[in-house]
Amino acid sequence: MSDTGTSRFANLFSPGGIGDVALGNRAVVAPMTRISAGPGGLATDEMAAYYAEYARGGFGLVITEGTYIDEARSQGYVDQPGIANDAQRDSWKRVVDVVHAEGVPIFMQLLHAGALIQHNDYADGAVAPSAVEPVGEMAPHYKGHGKFPIPREITRQEMKDIAARFGAAAVRAIDAGFDGVEIHGANGYLADQFLTDYTNARDDEYGGPTARRVRYHIEIVAAVKQSLDGRAPFGVRISETKVNDLAHSWAGGVDDAKTIFGAVGEAGPSYIHVNAHRGFEPVFGSGKSLARLAREAAPRDVGIVACGKLNDPSLAEALLEDGTADAAAIAKGALADPHWPRKIARDESPVAFDPEMLRPYATLENVRRWKEGRGLRDAARVGQ
Ligand SMILES: Cc1cc2nc3c(=O)[nH]c(=O)nc-3n(C[C@H](O)[C@H](O)[C@H](O)COP(=O)(O)O)c2cc1C
Repeated sequence: MSDTGTSRFANLFSPGGIGDVALGNRAVVAPMTRISAGPGGLATDEMAAYYAEYARGGFGLVITEGTYIDEARSQGYVDQPGIANDAQRDSWKRVVDVVHAEGVPIFMQLLHAGALIQHNDYADGAVAPSAVEPVGEMAPHYKGHGKFPIPREITRQEMKDIAARFGAAAVRAIDAGFDGVEIHGANGYLADQFLTDYTNARDDEYGGPTARRVRYHIEIVAAVKQSLDGRAPFGVRISETKVNDLAHSWAGGVDDAKTIFGAVGEAGPSYIHVNAHRGFEPVFGSGKSLARLAREAAPRDVGIVACGKLNDPSLAEALLEDGTADAAAIAKGALADPHWPRKIARDESPVAFDPEMLRPYATLENVRRWKEGRGLRDAARVGQ
């Protein structure tokens, strides 16, 4: 491409890779829950069309919405898709095929909700590191209402089983044709509940200091690594914030970051996906972004994907240029305009995100309606 955006954002538009998966550029679609699956947690044709649009729009990699891993307590949301059985695996093949038809790789994000269950088709009650009621309330845009129930403390056997099921789900995803998987270790779900001081009151080797609270991440990474056995790359997502606690910050600051990113990195994922409100902003008064702290703490061969308001391409470019990150993930900006990369490459303005896209519900149907409404508004403006 000879467009001006590609030269101004030369790093963003340079080819990259995660493991042996080649990326045409460094712009990644961040995982976004869309609560639009069919009955039985199956991926639908509408979902395939939705994901294909990002590939057509020029993204170098697509990461799916958080997808539940088992037919037990991993599902957190109504109409969430799963990768827990063969029927679900097969339903994703069409999604993979249409994205691949555009020459773009796709990873699946694997999720266990832990205490943050708003809806589950398979089991009653939630499990979590400790029987602590989650802060905040269920998310209305994911069709939840009221307080979360108090979870039951998970047993050691259940922890082992769930780690193994992350591994089995990873294999199912690769069997469906996905190019890689991402363990959801962030945003307040099960693994992050172990990491978080106030949701983990354990007095065994999984509780107490940060080095112990990150142990379950390491065990899930080990299980996925063993199950995939080198067949495909995989990452782990990490954040300070949670869907039900947007202000949370690690009490140990830089030391916590070193411990967490060091331990997770040493466990051997292909990449760490660092999610922050503003992925470029210094944290803990350190002068460094969370992604930079991850880069410095993890072994050099572990890729870093940064996320958080990187839809401003100059911010994404700066993180890529100074070597903080290997790729920049974009969520709301991508949702608003799946053709964000093509437009940035041509120096065109992408459609801006509007919170109405997620109101009342964060569904595919809602975005479609929003776009139709926008079309009408545009037509009305032209007619003025
Ligand atoms: C509608 C919506 C759904 C999301 N679902 C997920 C998810 O399933 N898994 C996840 O790790 N993050 C999820 N996120 C968080 C985004 O991946 C991203 O970290 C966050 O929106 C910040 O990036 P942004 O500033 O580019 O929007 C979601 C965000 C939005 C807006």
